[in-house]
Amino acid sequence: MDKRPLSDRVTWMGAVDWHRRLFDSLIPLPEGTSYNAYLVQGDQKTALLDAVDPTMSEVLLAQLDDIAHVDYVVAHHAEQDHSGTIPLVLERYPGARVLATPKGKGMLVDLLHLDPDRIDAVADGDRVSLGDRTLEFIHAPWVHWPETMLSYLIEEKTLFTCDLFGSHFATSSLSAGVDGRIVRSAKRYYAEIMMPFRKPLERNLDRLSAYEVARIAPSHGPVWDEPELILGAYRDWVSGPAHNEAVVPFVSMHGSTRALVDRLVAALATRGVEVHPFDLTVTDLGDLAMALVDAATVVIGSPTVLGGAHPQAAYAATLANALRPKTLYASVVGSYGWAPGAAKALVAAIPALRVEVLDPVLVQGKPRAADFAAIDNLADTIAERHQQLAL
Ligand code: FEO
Repeated sequence: MDKRPLSDRVTWMGAVDWHRRLFDSLIPLPEGTSYNAYLVQGDQKTALLDAVDPTMSEVLLAQLDDIAHVDYVVAHHAEQDHSGTIPLVLERYPGARVLATPKGKGMLVDLLHLDPDRIDAVADGDRVSLGDRTLEFIHAPWVHWPETMLSYLIEEKTLFTCDLFGSHFATSSLSAGVDGRIVRSAKRYYAEIMMPFRKPLERNLDRLSAYEVARIAPSHGPVWDEPELILGAYRDWVSGPAHNEAVVPFVSMHGSTRALVDRLVAALATRGVEVHPFDLTVTDLGDLAMALVDAATVVIGSPTVLGGAHPQAAYAATLANALRPKTLYASVVGSYGWAPGAAKALVAAIPALRVEVLDPVLVQGKPRAADFAAIDNLADTIAERHQQLAL
């Protein structure tokens, strides 16, 4: 992909990674991703904002071929998908200075072995003049690493946010426009990357409300020319009330836990609860993470295996615990052969979730009428609890 202008003085650079399907050896990328860098050219100085994943260094370096001079390389975030090509950029431009937060400076040295003498630590609120363009740096710790910062291009009211407001979405379009697919992809990104940091996000969103923002340029996915679209979505995901929704990740070995889950799904739907079942043997974990963003309740379906939860269910519980969604209620349903153990193990796996644990439904063998009645009772309880939500 060639570089393309965002304005007279700002150029989108970077690489679209159409075919990448896994990030951090963990996160599925069904829609690929992009690593966006931006070149800001004032009438006196030039800054490159972020770089690209080292697997695509050649793309960025080719885009820089006709750029004779770069004064600053702004490293918003030390993670390698944005910083990994900085060493090569510094080789190309021996006079360039790297600008990062103080913590970012240390991390760039540790992760990339950058020469610390080439890195200037910038304070929160510091400005750097490029002549007729000015960048202001906004420290934004914990979105999603501790060293992160944003840049605000004052004269163009453009906010460069690196991971924040990003989406893993490969596209030939520069702008997200009002494309609902991009918002959905951004929600998936939020769920997988940002959701564990809702408190710092809340603080940072409050802080950003002081800035007049005409455009948000993240370092993954297209640019938000309608910034309120993504700002409003983030406000809801981060701070909005939990929704009248239940997520039911489950795994079943011989059909008994599946029968309980099927009954629960039907019972919740009948009671007006929006329900999202996920068969963990075939689920894309990003879809599950996305469903966790809004749901008030999580019910995990698991048989008891070797005295504990099925490993697939244990993994889902561990994931939910790590992602820290705004879930309010949790429970477990499942079948066991001779002794129950799944519920205790699964509840123990979610200490970070501040949930009320609703009575699990644990069934010996194949469910009987009384077991289905217990499932109906659990559905009644969930529906009643959800009536108290600010819907
Ligand atoms: Fe896109 Fe946290 O790196």
